[in-house]
Amino acid sequence: MKTISEKIKEIKKVIDINYLINEHQNIKVLKDYYVRNKIAYLLFHNRQSFLHMGISHDGRYLNRDLYVQLKEIEKIIHLNGSKKVLELGFGHGANTNYLAKKHTDIQFDAIDISTRPFEKYIRSNTNFMLGDYHYLDHLTDDSYDVIFAIETICHSTNKERVFDQVYKKLRQGGIFILYDGYLNKKDLSDEEKLSCTLVEKGMAVDSFEHLNDVEGYMKENFHIQESVDLSVNILPTLYRFERLAKYFYSIPFIAKIFIKLLPEKIIRNTFSAYLMTNLVKEKIAAYYKHLLVKE
Ligand SMILES: C[S@@+](CC[C@H](N)C(=O)[O-])C[C@H]1O[C@@H](n2cnc3c(N)ncnc32)[C@H](O)[C@@H]1O
Repeated sequence: MKTISEKIKEIKKVIDINYLINEHQNIKVLKDYYVRNKIAYLLFHNRQSFLHMGISHDGRYLNRDLYVQLKEIEKIIHLNGSKKVLELGFGHGANTNYLAKKHTDIQFDAIDISTRPFEKYIRSNTNFMLGDYHYLDHLTDDSYDVIFAIETICHSTNKERVFDQVYKKLRQGGIFILYDGYLNKKDLSDEEKLSCTLVEKGMAVDSFEHLNDVEGYMKENFHIQESVDLSVNILPTLYRFERLAKYFYSIPFIAKIFIKLLPEKIIRNTFSAYLMTNLVKEKIAAYYKHLLVKE
């Protein structure tokens, strides 16, 4: 695998990254990113319209890895006798659809700021809402048995507020399940910082927060029942992305043609695709599952 330094040099050969470094992430950038990448995700990630990492247990990527988070959530929904579940940041609606189809006696609400669910995912027991999960006043307090969020809280610039909102909406004993990426190293070198910035810009994330800081916010309200490092398990998914980006950057001349043809919000995905393996392998970033209980 190439080093961070080698990869950044290759990226700089085809893209002027300076304009990006100071770009401020906001809701408009986020929405634009997800709207423009709808087709790209289907083409380059998976046909099931999941927007998350696969969790592999044998070191290679298989389609079934995309269902691991859902199967774990399903177990918890079953164990705590859920009647009402909420998904934050539903993407294209594939997660809520998967669970709602199998559990017709449970009401599934879901909220996303930038995307609408695919029509086929709308069921009698689903309620997909367009909105911001920092503001959940329209939902009933103490009413959800389980709230889950897969790879969406990384976008939040006010995670404390999200944990507060979720705490209010969960019933006593309710569970908040999160799968997400965090910064895992302090005192980064300039090059490590730049690679993080490029990965963030590539994914419309304002800035990855350090795991310890986010766990600090979690503890303000919740009991952390589980905190599981799944970084190694997402590597096979990351290698797939890295391979695609490697083709892209290997022939700068062709890459420049693509840059002229495709929307910039699609091109910037290549930064994350190319650099994320290094960040995870070098333990600069990490992917975690958390189970939080409202006691
Ligand atoms: C990486 S995608 C994950 C989608 C889905 N959880 C999945 O596993 O396929 C992140 C999603 O979070 C949504 N999102 C980001 N910030 C949000 C916010 N403040 N409120 C609601 N949704 C948000 C984005 O619009 C996007 O659809």
